[in-house]
Amino acid sequence: MMSSKQIAMFNNQEILPFKKNKREDFNKEILKDVINLREELKPDIPSTTYLTHGIHNVYPAKFIPQVPRFVIKKFNHKGKIILDPFAGSGTTAVESLITGNSNISNDINPLTKFLVEIKTLKFNPRDCFSYLDRLIYHVDSIFKSDLKFTPKWGNLDYWYPPEILTELKKIWGYIHSIDENESNIKYILKASALFISRKYSYGEDGSPKLFRSKQKTMKMKELTNKFHEIGYKLLRNELLGKAEQYLGAVTQFNSSMKTEFMKVNSIGDTSKQFLMVLNVSIEDLGKIIPKQTIDCIITSPPYIYAQEYFRSTKIDMYWLDMIDDDLIKKLTKMEIGQKPKPFWDLSADLSKIRPFKNTLSVIRELSEKFKSKDNILRYEAYFNDMMYFVRLSSNLLVSKGILAIFIGEPKVFGTPVNVKDIISQMMEESNFKIVNTYFDIIKSRHLLRNRLNENPDGISGEWLILGEKL
Ligand SMILES: C[S@@+](CC[C@H](N)C(=O)[O-])C[C@H]1O[C@@H](n2cnc3c(N)ncnc32)[C@H](O)[C@@H]1O
Repeated sequence: MMSSKQIAMFNNQEILPFKKNKREDFNKEILKDVINLREELKPDIPSTTYLTHGIHNVYPAKFIPQVPRFVIKKFNHKGKIILDPFAGSGTTAVESLITGNSNISNDINPLTKFLVEIKTLKFNPRDCFSYLDRLIYHVDSIFKSDLKFTPKWGNLDYWYPPEILTELKKIWGYIHSIDENESNIKYILKASALFISRKYSYGEDGSPKLFRSKQKTMKMKELTNKFHEIGYKLLRNELLGKAEQYLGAVTQFNSSMKTEFMKVNSIGDTSKQFLMVLNVSIEDLGKIIPKQTIDCIITSPPYIYAQEYFRSTKIDMYWLDMIDDDLIKKLTKMEIGQKPKPFWDLSADLSKIRPFKNTLSVIRELSEKFKSKDNILRYEAYFNDMMYFVRLSSNLLVSKGILAIFIGEPKVFGTPVNVKDIISQMMEESNFKIVNTYFDIIKSRHLLRNRLNENPDGISGEWLILGEKL
Protein backbone atom coordinates (compact mmCIF):
# COMPACT_ATOMS: atom_id res chain seq x y z
CA MET A 1 0.00 0.00 0.00
CA MET A 2 1.13 3.61 -0.60
CA SER A 3 1.93 6.32 1.89
CA SER A 4 -0.41 9.33 1.97
CA LYS A 5 2.41 11.56 0.66
CA GLN A 6 2.78 9.46 -2.48
CA ILE A 7 -0.95 9.29 -2.88
CA ALA A 8 -1.58 13.04 -2.95
CA MET A 9 -0.32 13.33 -6.50
CA PHE A 10 -3.17 11.18 -7.76
CA ASN A 11 -5.71 13.67 -6.58
CA ASN A 12 -4.96 16.55 -8.93
CA GLN A 13 -7.05 15.06 -11.66
CA GLU A 14 -10.39 16.66 -12.46
CA ILE A 15 -13.04 14.14 -11.43
CA LEU A 16 -16.61 15.24 -11.94
CA PRO A 17 -18.69 14.99 -8.80
CA PHE A 18 -21.10 12.11 -8.95
CA LYS A 19 -23.11 12.58 -5.79
CA LYS A 20 -23.01 15.97 -4.04
CA ASN A 21 -20.33 15.03 -1.52
CA LYS A 22 -18.45 12.72 -3.85
CA ARG A 23 -15.22 14.72 -4.09
CA GLU A 24 -14.58 14.39 -0.32
CA ASP A 25 -15.43 10.72 -0.47
CA PHE A 26 -13.12 10.31 -3.41
CA ASN A 27 -10.14 11.62 -1.46
CA LYS A 28 -10.85 9.36 1.47
CA GLU A 29 -11.31 6.46 -0.83
CA ILE A 30 -7.98 7.03 -2.55
CA LEU A 31 -6.18 7.14 0.79
CA LYS A 32 -7.72 3.86 1.75
CA ASP A 33 -7.49 1.90 -1.46
CA VAL A 34 -4.49 2.87 -3.55
CA ILE A 35 -2.60 -0.24 -4.46
CA ASN A 36 0.29 -1.40 -6.62
CA LEU A 37 -0.80 -4.76 -7.97
CA ARG A 38 2.65 -5.72 -9.26
CA GLU A 39 4.22 -5.11 -5.85
CA GLU A 40 1.34 -6.66 -3.97
CA LEU A 41 1.62 -9.93 -5.90
CA LYS A 42 5.40 -10.14 -6.24
CA PRO A 43 5.59 -13.38 -4.22
CA ASP A 44 2.95 -15.01 -6.44
CA ILE A 45 3.72 -13.66 -9.91
CA PRO A 46 7.39 -13.22 -10.87
CA SER A 47 6.72 -11.35 -14.11
CA THR A 48 3.79 -10.23 -16.22
CA THR A 49 4.87 -12.68 -18.95
CA TYR A 50 5.29 -15.74 -16.71
CA LEU A 51 3.91 -19.13 -17.85
CA THR A 52 2.04 -18.58 -21.11
CA HIS A 53 1.16 -14.90 -20.55
CA GLY A 54 4.01 -13.82 -22.82
CA ILE A 55 2.56 -15.58 -25.89
CA HIS A 56 1.24 -13.03 -28.38
CA ASN A 57 1.89 -10.21 -25.97
CA VAL A 58 0.42 -7.57 -28.26
CA TYR A 59 -3.30 -7.94 -27.63
CA PRO A 60 -4.77 -4.42 -27.25
CA ALA A 61 -5.65 -3.27 -23.71
CA LYS A 62 -4.68 -6.63 -22.26
CA PHE A 63 -4.44 -6.51 -18.47
CA ILE A 64 -1.61 -7.96 -16.42
CA PRO A 65 -2.11 -11.37 -14.75
CA GLN A 66 -1.88 -9.67 -11.36
CA VAL A 67 -5.38 -8.23 -11.89
CA PRO A 68 -7.30 -11.54 -11.98
CA ARG A 69 -4.87 -13.12 -9.47
CA PHE A 70 -5.52 -10.36 -6.93
CA VAL A 71 -9.26 -10.99 -7.05
CA ILE A 72 -8.88 -14.78 -6.88
CA LYS A 73 -6.54 -14.47 -3.90
CA LYS A 74 -8.62 -11.88 -2.08
CA PHE A 75 -11.70 -14.09 -2.11
CA ASN A 76 -9.76 -17.31 -1.65
CA HIS A 77 -11.31 -18.80 -4.76
CA LYS A 78 -10.61 -22.47 -5.47
CA GLY A 79 -12.90 -24.88 -7.29
CA LYS A 80 -15.06 -21.94 -8.40
CA ILE A 81 -16.38 -21.01 -11.85
CA ILE A 82 -14.82 -17.77 -13.06
CA LEU A 83 -16.17 -15.99 -16.14
CA ASP A 84 -14.47 -13.34 -18.26
CA PRO A 85 -17.07 -12.06 -20.76
CA PHE A 86 -14.50 -9.76 -22.47
CA ALA A 87 -11.65 -12.27 -22.35
CA GLY A 88 -9.36 -10.77 -25.04
CA SER A 89 -6.07 -12.64 -24.93
CA GLY A 90 -7.10 -15.05 -22.18
CA THR A 91 -5.30 -13.63 -19.13
CA THR A 92 -8.15 -14.57 -16.77
CA ALA A 93 -8.32 -18.10 -18.23
CA VAL A 94 -4.69 -18.88 -17.38
CA GLU A 95 -4.95 -17.39 -13.87
CA SER A 96 -8.23 -19.22 -13.14
CA LEU A 97 -6.87 -22.62 -14.16
CA ILE A 98 -3.53 -22.24 -12.44
CA THR A 99 -5.27 -21.44 -9.16
CA GLY A 100 -7.52 -24.52 -9.35
CA ASN A 101 -10.65 -22.82 -10.68
CA SER A 102 -12.78 -23.44 -13.76
CA ASN A 103 -13.02 -20.76 -16.41
CA ILE A 104 -15.39 -19.56 -19.08
CA SER A 105 -13.75 -17.13 -21.50
CA ASN A 106 -15.88 -15.25 -23.99
CA ASP A 107 -15.07 -12.55 -26.50
CA ILE A 108 -16.64 -11.30 -29.69
CA ASN A 109 -13.17 -11.39 -31.25
CA PRO A 110 -12.57 -14.80 -32.92
CA LEU A 111 -8.86 -14.50 -32.08
CA THR A 112 -9.63 -15.09 -28.38
CA LYS A 113 -10.45 -18.76 -28.97
CA PHE A 114 -7.06 -19.29 -30.58
CA LEU A 115 -5.19 -17.39 -27.86
CA VAL A 116 -6.92 -19.18 -24.97
CA GLU A 117 -6.29 -22.54 -26.67
CA ILE A 118 -2.56 -21.95 -27.15
CA LYS A 119 -2.09 -20.53 -23.66
CA THR A 120 -3.75 -23.55 -22.09
CA LEU A 121 -2.50 -26.34 -24.38
CA LYS A 122 -2.52 -29.63 -22.50
CA PHE A 123 0.35 -32.04 -22.68
CA ASN A 124 2.63 -34.06 -20.48
CA PRO A 125 5.75 -31.93 -19.75
CA ARG A 126 7.78 -35.14 -20.15
CA ASP A 127 6.89 -35.12 -23.88
CA CYS A 128 8.56 -31.73 -24.31
CA PHE A 129 11.62 -33.14 -26.12
CA SER A 130 9.66 -35.20 -28.62
CA TYR A 131 7.59 -32.06 -29.33
CA LEU A 132 10.79 -30.16 -29.94
CA ASP A 133 11.91 -32.78 -32.49
CA ARG A 134 8.59 -32.47 -34.29
CA LEU A 135 8.84 -28.68 -34.32
CA ILE A 136 12.28 -28.82 -35.93
CA TYR A 137 11.05 -31.37 -38.47
CA HIS A 138 8.07 -29.19 -39.45
CA VAL A 139 10.01 -25.92 -39.61
CA ASP A 140 12.52 -27.51 -41.97
CA SER A 141 9.77 -29.07 -44.08
CA ILE A 142 8.09 -25.67 -44.58
CA PHE A 143 10.86 -24.39 -46.81
CA LYS A 144 10.97 -27.56 -48.91
CA SER A 145 7.24 -27.46 -49.55
CA ASP A 146 5.34 -25.86 -52.45
CA LEU A 147 2.18 -25.21 -50.46
CA LYS A 148 0.90 -21.64 -50.34
CA PHE A 149 -1.78 -19.77 -48.41
CA THR A 150 -3.08 -16.34 -49.42
CA PRO A 151 -5.19 -14.59 -46.78
CA LYS A 152 -8.49 -13.03 -47.84
CA TRP A 153 -7.12 -9.58 -47.17
CA GLY A 154 -7.98 -6.85 -49.66
CA ASN A 155 -4.80 -4.78 -49.41
CA LEU A 156 -2.32 -7.44 -48.41
CA ASP A 157 0.41 -5.97 -50.65
CA TYR A 158 0.27 -2.70 -48.73
CA TRP A 159 1.60 -4.44 -45.62
CA TYR A 160 4.50 -6.52 -46.99
CA PRO A 161 7.45 -6.31 -49.39
CA PRO A 162 6.78 -8.88 -52.19
CA GLU A 163 9.73 -11.20 -51.43
CA ILE A 164 8.75 -11.49 -47.74
CA LEU A 165 5.11 -12.03 -48.68
CA THR A 166 6.10 -15.00 -50.85
CA GLU A 167 7.86 -16.62 -47.88
CA LEU A 168 5.00 -15.92 -45.49
CA LYS A 169 2.50 -17.49 -47.88
CA LYS A 170 4.70 -20.57 -47.91
CA ILE A 171 5.02 -20.70 -44.11
CA TRP A 172 1.26 -20.41 -43.63
CA GLY A 173 0.45 -22.78 -46.51
CA TYR A 174 2.47 -25.50 -44.80
CA ILE A 175 1.24 -24.79 -41.26
CA HIS A 176 -2.42 -24.84 -42.31
CA SER A 177 -1.83 -28.26 -43.89
CA ILE A 178 -0.42 -29.93 -40.74
CA ASP A 179 -2.64 -32.81 -39.64
CA GLU A 180 -4.98 -32.23 -36.69
CA ASN A 181 -3.41 -35.27 -34.99
CA GLU A 182 -0.58 -32.89 -34.26
CA SER A 183 -2.80 -30.03 -33.17
CA ASN A 184 -0.52 -28.99 -30.28
CA ILE A 185 2.42 -28.57 -32.65
CA LYS A 186 0.15 -26.77 -35.11
CA TYR A 187 -0.95 -24.28 -32.41
CA ILE A 188 2.63 -23.54 -31.40
CA LEU A 189 3.72 -23.03 -34.99
CA LYS A 190 0.75 -20.80 -35.75
CA ALA A 191 1.51 -18.58 -32.76
CA SER A 192 5.17 -18.37 -33.81
CA ALA A 193 4.22 -17.56 -37.40
CA LEU A 194 1.96 -14.76 -36.11
CA PHE A 195 5.00 -13.22 -34.49
CA ILE A 196 6.96 -13.37 -37.77
CA SER A 197 4.01 -12.08 -39.79
CA ARG A 198 3.85 -8.98 -37.60
CA LYS A 199 7.57 -8.44 -37.31
CA TYR A 200 8.19 -8.67 -41.07
CA SER A 201 5.27 -6.40 -42.00
CA TYR A 202 5.16 -2.65 -42.46
CA GLY A 203 2.77 -2.59 -39.50
CA GLU A 204 4.18 -1.11 -36.30
CA ASP A 205 4.83 -4.18 -34.15
CA GLY A 206 5.77 -2.36 -30.94
CA SER A 207 2.18 -1.22 -30.56
CA PRO A 208 -1.01 -3.26 -30.53
CA LYS A 209 -2.54 -0.90 -33.09
CA LEU A 210 -1.90 -1.76 -36.76
CA PHE A 211 -0.48 1.21 -38.64
CA ARG A 212 2.42 2.01 -40.97
CA SER A 213 5.07 4.18 -39.36
CA LYS A 214 8.17 5.83 -40.77
CA GLN A 215 10.33 3.98 -38.28
CA LYS A 216 8.90 0.61 -39.20
CA THR A 217 9.39 1.32 -42.91
CA MET A 218 13.09 1.97 -42.18
CA LYS A 219 13.29 -1.17 -40.06
CA MET A 220 11.71 -3.16 -42.88
CA LYS A 221 14.37 -1.90 -45.27
CA GLU A 222 16.99 -3.35 -42.91
CA LEU A 223 15.14 -6.63 -42.48
CA THR A 224 14.59 -7.02 -46.23
CA ASN A 225 18.29 -6.41 -46.88
CA LYS A 226 19.11 -9.03 -44.30
CA PHE A 227 16.71 -11.38 -46.01
CA HIS A 228 18.48 -10.79 -49.34
CA GLU A 229 21.77 -11.70 -47.66
CA ILE A 230 20.76 -14.73 -45.60
CA GLY A 231 17.70 -15.94 -47.50
CA TYR A 232 14.88 -18.07 -46.08
CA LYS A 233 17.11 -19.18 -43.16
CA LEU A 234 16.48 -15.81 -41.55
CA LEU A 235 12.78 -16.59 -41.24
CA ARG A 236 13.40 -20.26 -40.46
CA ASN A 237 15.60 -19.41 -37.47
CA GLU A 238 13.20 -16.79 -36.12
CA LEU A 239 10.27 -19.15 -36.48
CA LEU A 240 12.06 -21.97 -34.70
CA GLY A 241 13.34 -19.65 -31.97
CA LYS A 242 9.80 -18.46 -31.19
CA ALA A 243 8.42 -22.00 -31.38
CA GLU A 244 11.00 -23.18 -28.82
CA GLN A 245 10.16 -20.26 -26.55
CA TYR A 246 6.42 -20.97 -26.75
CA LEU A 247 6.95 -24.69 -26.22
CA GLY A 248 8.89 -23.82 -23.06
CA ALA A 249 6.06 -21.55 -21.88
CA VAL A 250 3.39 -24.19 -22.44
CA THR A 251 5.55 -26.82 -20.73
CA GLN A 252 5.84 -24.54 -17.70
CA PHE A 253 2.09 -23.99 -17.66
CA ASN A 254 1.51 -27.76 -17.64
CA SER A 255 4.14 -28.33 -14.94
CA SER A 256 2.48 -25.70 -12.76
CA MET A 257 -1.04 -27.15 -13.11
CA LYS A 258 -1.83 -29.08 -9.95
CA THR A 259 -5.10 -30.54 -11.22
CA GLU A 260 -6.36 -32.05 -14.45
CA PHE A 261 -8.89 -29.83 -16.25
CA MET A 262 -11.30 -30.66 -19.07
CA LYS A 263 -12.03 -28.58 -22.15
CA VAL A 264 -15.81 -28.47 -22.59
CA ASN A 265 -18.37 -26.94 -24.97
CA SER A 266 -21.20 -26.54 -22.48
CA ILE A 267 -21.63 -26.32 -18.73
CA GLY A 268 -22.39 -29.86 -17.60
CA ASP A 269 -20.65 -31.54 -14.71
CA THR A 270 -19.35 -28.60 -12.71
CA SER A 271 -17.74 -30.74 -10.03
CA LYS A 272 -14.63 -31.14 -12.22
CA GLN A 273 -12.30 -28.34 -13.23
CA PHE A 274 -13.10 -27.16 -16.75
CA LEU A 275 -12.35 -24.55 -19.41
CA MET A 276 -14.94 -23.33 -21.90
CA VAL A 277 -14.30 -20.77 -24.63
CA LEU A 278 -17.12 -18.84 -26.30
CA ASN A 279 -17.14 -16.44 -29.21
CA VAL A 280 -20.35 -14.40 -28.94
CA SER A 281 -21.36 -10.85 -28.23
CA ILE A 282 -22.36 -10.34 -24.60
CA GLU A 283 -25.93 -9.87 -25.83
CA ASP A 284 -26.01 -13.62 -26.55
CA LEU A 285 -24.12 -14.80 -23.49
CA GLY A 286 -27.27 -15.11 -21.36
CA LYS A 287 -28.65 -17.65 -23.86
CA ILE A 288 -25.65 -19.93 -23.37
CA ILE A 289 -24.78 -19.62 -19.68
CA PRO A 290 -27.60 -20.58 -17.31
CA LYS A 291 -28.63 -18.06 -14.65
CA GLN A 292 -26.93 -18.19 -11.25
CA THR A 293 -24.15 -20.56 -12.24
CA ILE A 294 -21.11 -18.29 -12.07
CA ASP A 295 -19.18 -17.71 -8.81
CA CYS A 296 -17.04 -14.84 -9.97
CA ILE A 297 -16.71 -12.52 -12.97
CA ILE A 298 -13.33 -10.90 -13.54
CA THR A 299 -13.04 -8.64 -16.56
CA SER A 300 -11.84 -5.47 -18.18
CA PRO A 301 -14.52 -4.17 -20.53
CA PRO A 302 -13.55 -2.10 -23.57
CA TYR A 303 -12.63 1.50 -23.01
CA ILE A 304 -15.09 4.16 -23.95
CA TYR A 305 -14.22 5.26 -27.53
CA ALA A 306 -11.53 2.60 -27.83
CA GLN A 307 -13.26 0.30 -30.26
CA GLU A 308 -10.19 -0.81 -32.13
CA TYR A 309 -9.88 -4.45 -31.23
CA PHE A 310 -10.51 -5.75 -34.73
CA ARG A 311 -8.34 -3.19 -36.43
CA SER A 312 -5.51 -4.16 -34.10
CA THR A 313 -5.84 -7.92 -34.43
CA LYS A 314 -6.98 -8.35 -38.02
CA ILE A 315 -3.43 -9.05 -39.24
CA ASP A 316 -3.43 -12.18 -37.05
CA MET A 317 -6.92 -13.24 -37.98
CA TYR A 318 -6.32 -12.94 -41.73
CA TRP A 319 -3.31 -15.23 -41.52
CA LEU A 320 -5.16 -17.65 -39.27
CA ASP A 321 -7.88 -17.70 -41.93
CA MET A 322 -10.57 -16.69 -39.45
CA ILE A 323 -11.96 -13.69 -41.23
CA ASP A 324 -12.44 -11.78 -44.45
CA ASP A 325 -13.05 -8.07 -45.04
CA ASP A 326 -16.85 -8.41 -44.73
CA LEU A 327 -16.76 -10.28 -41.43
CA ILE A 328 -14.46 -7.62 -39.97
CA LYS A 329 -17.00 -4.94 -40.80
CA LYS A 330 -19.84 -6.98 -39.34
CA LEU A 331 -17.99 -7.73 -36.10
CA THR A 332 -16.86 -4.14 -35.65
CA LYS A 333 -20.50 -3.04 -35.58
CA MET A 334 -21.18 -5.48 -32.75
CA GLU A 335 -18.43 -4.14 -30.48
CA ILE A 336 -19.39 -2.45 -27.22
CA GLY A 337 -20.48 1.12 -27.80
CA GLN A 338 -20.79 0.81 -31.56
CA LYS A 339 -24.53 0.60 -31.85
CA PRO A 340 -26.01 4.03 -31.28
CA LYS A 341 -29.27 3.42 -29.49
CA PRO A 342 -31.23 5.32 -26.88
CA PHE A 343 -31.04 4.15 -23.28
CA TRP A 344 -34.53 2.84 -23.01
CA ASP A 345 -33.95 0.37 -25.81
CA LEU A 346 -32.75 -2.43 -23.55
CA SER A 347 -32.99 -6.05 -24.57
CA ALA A 348 -36.01 -8.09 -23.63
CA ASP A 349 -35.27 -10.36 -20.69
CA LEU A 350 -32.88 -8.10 -18.83
CA SER A 351 -35.05 -5.01 -19.22
CA LYS A 352 -37.40 -6.40 -16.57
CA ILE A 353 -35.06 -4.99 -13.96
CA ARG A 354 -36.10 -1.44 -13.18
CA PRO A 355 -34.32 1.26 -15.20
CA PHE A 356 -31.23 2.87 -13.73
CA LYS A 357 -32.72 6.24 -13.01
CA ASN A 358 -29.72 7.76 -11.22
CA THR A 359 -27.15 6.46 -13.61
CA LEU A 360 -29.14 7.66 -16.55
CA SER A 361 -29.39 11.23 -15.35
CA VAL A 362 -25.67 11.40 -14.52
CA ILE A 363 -24.68 10.18 -17.95
CA ARG A 364 -27.06 12.61 -19.66
CA GLU A 365 -25.73 15.51 -17.60
CA LEU A 366 -22.17 14.61 -18.47
CA SER A 367 -22.78 14.30 -22.18
CA GLU A 368 -24.17 17.84 -22.23
CA LYS A 369 -20.67 19.07 -21.43
CA PHE A 370 -19.28 17.73 -24.72
CA LYS A 371 -18.40 20.35 -27.25
CA SER A 372 -19.46 18.10 -30.10
CA LYS A 373 -22.99 16.78 -29.76
CA ASP A 374 -22.59 14.47 -32.76
CA ASN A 375 -21.02 11.66 -30.81
CA ILE A 376 -23.36 11.76 -27.83
CA LEU A 377 -25.33 8.82 -29.17
CA ARG A 378 -22.22 6.69 -29.34
CA TYR A 379 -21.21 7.77 -25.87
CA GLU A 380 -24.66 6.82 -24.59
CA ALA A 381 -24.47 3.54 -26.51
CA TYR A 382 -21.30 2.68 -24.58
CA PHE A 383 -22.99 3.13 -21.23
CA ASN A 384 -26.09 1.41 -22.50
CA ASP A 385 -23.98 -1.64 -23.31
CA MET A 386 -22.21 -1.39 -19.96
CA MET A 387 -25.57 -1.35 -18.19
CA TYR A 388 -26.55 -4.43 -20.11
CA PHE A 389 -23.32 -6.12 -19.06
CA VAL A 390 -23.80 -5.25 -15.36
CA ARG A 391 -27.38 -6.54 -15.42
CA LEU A 392 -26.31 -9.69 -17.21
CA SER A 393 -23.60 -10.23 -14.58
CA SER A 394 -26.22 -9.92 -11.86
CA ASN A 395 -28.29 -12.61 -13.59
CA LEU A 396 -25.43 -15.02 -14.15
CA LEU A 397 -23.83 -14.82 -10.69
CA VAL A 398 -24.83 -16.97 -7.75
CA SER A 399 -25.87 -15.21 -4.57
CA LYS A 400 -22.78 -13.62 -2.96
CA GLY A 401 -20.97 -14.03 -6.29
CA ILE A 402 -18.24 -11.49 -7.07
CA LEU A 403 -18.14 -9.02 -9.96
CA ALA A 404 -14.65 -7.54 -10.48
CA ILE A 405 -14.36 -4.81 -13.11
CA PHE A 406 -11.02 -3.29 -14.09
CA ILE A 407 -11.49 0.05 -15.80
CA GLY A 408 -9.75 3.35 -16.59
CA GLU A 409 -11.18 6.85 -16.59
CA PRO A 410 -10.56 8.51 -19.90
CA LYS A 411 -11.21 11.97 -21.15
CA VAL A 412 -13.72 12.08 -23.96
CA PHE A 413 -13.53 15.24 -26.09
CA GLY A 414 -11.39 16.73 -23.33
CA THR A 415 -13.97 15.99 -20.63
CA PRO A 416 -12.99 13.51 -17.92
CA VAL A 417 -15.62 10.80 -17.64
CA ASN A 418 -15.90 9.24 -14.21
CA VAL A 419 -16.53 5.75 -15.53
CA LYS A 420 -15.66 4.19 -12.18
CA ASP A 421 -18.44 6.05 -10.37
CA ILE A 422 -20.95 5.47 -13.11
CA ILE A 423 -20.28 1.74 -13.18
CA SER A 424 -20.33 1.51 -9.37
CA GLN A 425 -23.71 3.20 -9.45
CA MET A 426 -24.92 0.75 -12.08
CA MET A 427 -23.78 -2.11 -9.86
CA GLU A 428 -25.56 -0.74 -6.82
CA GLU A 429 -28.71 -0.43 -8.87
CA SER A 430 -28.36 -4.03 -10.08
CA ASN A 431 -28.33 -5.91 -6.83
CA PHE A 432 -24.65 -5.52 -5.96
CA LYS A 433 -22.97 -4.22 -2.81
CA ILE A 434 -19.63 -2.53 -3.55
CA VAL A 435 -17.10 -4.28 -1.33
CA ASN A 436 -13.93 -2.46 -2.43
CA THR A 437 -12.70 0.06 -4.96
CA TYR A 438 -8.97 -0.02 -5.61
CA PHE A 439 -6.87 2.39 -7.59
CA ASP A 440 -3.90 0.58 -9.15
CA ILE A 441 -1.23 3.21 -9.57
CA ILE A 442 0.73 1.46 -12.32
CA LYS A 443 -0.63 1.31 -15.82
CA SER A 444 -1.61 -2.29 -16.14
CA ARG A 445 -2.57 -2.37 -19.78
CA HIS A 446 -1.20 -1.50 -23.17
CA LEU A 447 -3.70 1.24 -23.83
CA LEU A 448 -5.07 2.29 -27.14
CA ARG A 449 -4.67 5.90 -28.04
CA ASN A 450 -6.93 7.70 -30.42
CA ARG A 451 -8.30 11.10 -31.20
CA LEU A 452 -11.40 10.97 -29.04
CA ASN A 453 -10.24 8.88 -26.14
CA GLU A 454 -7.41 10.71 -24.44
CA ASN A 455 -7.03 8.11 -21.80
CA PRO A 456 -3.30 7.47 -21.92
CA ASP A 457 -2.61 11.14 -21.15
CA GLY A 458 -2.85 12.22 -17.57
CA ILE A 459 -4.24 8.97 -16.21
CA SER A 460 -1.80 7.42 -13.84
CA GLY A 461 -3.60 4.21 -13.06
CA GLU A 462 -6.81 2.26 -13.25
CA TRP A 463 -9.69 1.24 -11.05
CA LEU A 464 -10.65 -2.17 -9.80
CA ILE A 465 -14.25 -2.26 -8.59
CA LEU A 466 -15.31 -5.26 -6.54
CA GLY A 467 -19.00 -5.92 -5.98
CA GLU A 468 -20.83 -8.73 -4.24
CA LYS A 469 -24.19 -9.87 -5.50
CA LEU A 470 -26.77 -9.54 -2.76
C1 LIG B 1 -9.98 -4.55 -22.68
S1 LIG B 1 -10.14 -5.88 -23.78
C2 LIG B 1 -9.96 -7.29 -22.73
C3 LIG B 1 -8.52 -7.68 -22.56
C4 LIG B 1 -8.31 -8.88 -21.64
N1 LIG B 1 -8.58 -8.54 -20.25
C5 LIG B 1 -6.88 -9.41 -21.75
O1 LIG B 1 -6.19 -9.49 -20.74
O2 LIG B 1 -6.45 -9.71 -22.87
C6 LIG B 1 -11.87 -5.82 -24.08
C7 LIG B 1 -12.40 -6.94 -24.97
O3 LIG B 1 -13.81 -6.75 -25.17
C8 LIG B 1 -14.15 -7.36 -26.40
N2 LIG B 1 -15.49 -6.92 -26.83
C9 LIG B 1 -15.88 -5.74 -27.37
N3 LIG B 1 -17.18 -5.73 -27.62
C10 LIG B 1 -17.68 -6.94 -27.22
C11 LIG B 1 -18.98 -7.53 -27.21
N4 LIG B 1 -20.05 -6.87 -27.66
N5 LIG B 1 -19.12 -8.79 -26.70
C12 LIG B 1 -18.03 -9.48 -26.23
N6 LIG B 1 -16.78 -8.97 -26.24
C13 LIG B 1 -16.59 -7.71 -26.71
C14 LIG B 1 -13.02 -6.91 -27.33
O4 LIG B 1 -12.91 -7.76 -28.46
C15 LIG B 1 -11.81 -6.98 -26.39
O5 LIG B 1 -11.11 -8.20 -26.55
